[in-house]
Amino acid sequence: MFGPRKSIETAGSHGAGHRLAKTLSWPHLIALGVGAIVGTGIYTLTGVGAERAGPAVILAFAIAGAVCACAALAYAEMATMVPAAGSAYTFSYVAMGEGVAWVIGWSLVLEYSLACSTVAVGWSGYLVGWLQAAGVELPQALLVGPHAGGVINLPAVIVALSIMGLLIAGTRESATLNIILVIIKLVALSIFVLFALPAFQGENLQPFMPYGFASTEIMGEKRGVMAAAAIVFFAFYGFDAVATSAEEAKQPGRDLTIGIIGSMAVCTLIYMLVAISAIGAMPFTALANSPEPLALVLRTLDHPLAAHLIALAAVIALPSVILVMMYGQSRIFFVMARDGLLPRRLAAVSSRTGAPTVITLLTGVVVAAVAGFFRLDEIAELANAGTLVAFVAVAASMMILRRTAPNAARLFRCPQAYVVGTAAILGCLYLFISLPGSTIVRFLIWNLLGLAVYLAYGRRRSALRHAEPSPAAQ
Ligand code: ALA
Repeated sequence: MFGPRKSIETAGSHGAGHRLAKTLSWPHLIALGVGAIVGTGIYTLTGVGAERAGPAVILAFAIAGAVCACAALAYAEMATMVPAAGSAYTFSYVAMGEGVAWVIGWSLVLEYSLACSTVAVGWSGYLVGWLQAAGVELPQALLVGPHAGGVINLPAVIVALSIMGLLIAGTRESATLNIILVIIKLVALSIFVLFALPAFQGENLQPFMPYGFASTEIMGEKRGVMAAAAIVFFAFYGFDAVATSAEEAKQPGRDLTIGIIGSMAVCTLIYMLVAISAIGAMPFTALANSPEPLALVLRTLDHPLAAHLIALAAVIALPSVILVMMYGQSRIFFVMARDGLLPRRLAAVSSRTGAPTVITLLTGVVVAAVAGFFRLDEIAELANAGTLVAFVAVAASMMILRRTAPNAARLFRCPQAYVVGTAAILGCLYLFISLPGSTIVRFLIWNLLGLAVYLAYGRRRSALRHAEPSPAAQ
């Protein structure tokens, strides 16, 4: 009913011209994971979350983190069982068939591309705040999109296109640069906690849940702890970018397990600390909707130099998130094209850099266009919708394959797979329905469009459906 399924064994075998080189090991993967995870979610969406949940945004971080941890465990099992590029898309292809895989791949486009756009807009917020604090004034029309009275968010467009250029130049250099940026980002968050936590005041946490728990519409906006969880969920994902590069891992079993679980654990700890420090330091209403809430907290606490440093760190380091997510996106498109569901020409790998050039170019231009014209929270919410659906598919794939392929080699076994898998699915669905109705409608329209592309192109050209002998088997 859902189309043909890939076998676990062949999911990773492809012709030489379409195979990615095995160059990464676990330190690269943790850096890749932390590079993708810590970004606009904690640097900027902490403010949006505070507006939606009040001080209970701390609880929202904990809920979103717990759901992501369950999904991460399922990811780790699947990534070590099916070490092929494409993550949730490939896992669904193996467990549930091509039709589901297509929907997931199409949803992953939202996750990776829109996450890049979100971070580009968040980056622009810190850059502009930083420049203004330094006394530089720029024409407002070029700093924000039409939704905020401007023409285009030019800084966001420029950063997106620059990252695209880096990726086209080759993964190797980009991975090394990523490690340096990850260190800067983590040091900056530590500085934030060191300055903000001593200013903690218990009364800033009262009332803790001013808008209640469930996501409900108050004055035209979704409010409540779950509404905040549904947006700050953005802060936690990215670890799946590690699974996306499974095919490039030297020892997938060890490298991916450490890479995924390790990066997730590091980030959850840091977020809790940052959220408690920010909320304890000032009334949540002052944080709400600031384009640079962490710098704002430090400035309000009269630490202008620290504020300057954290903004500078965000400006220097947030591009690492775009780097990893854009990398992930290019790999998803790459695998879908290699499978014949998108034009195969797109999967061509440059013989000089080893990177899929055409697909990276396409991704970069779309990411830049969205970042230039749309609102940060709306982009993030749509990215979250795509990610939540992909996570549901991964948890479902894990449980299905436990039954249909019980003896397949699993280098990492998720503990209590059915409990963790069910918790991941229910948690993701709860977060999904806590998103604003407009986001859910946009998500459905996107997938209807995707289905039309699949029926008109992918279904007819599918390499698996037509059992084209793969070049490797010839
Ligand atoms: N988790 C990433 C971020 O917060 C996408 O920027």
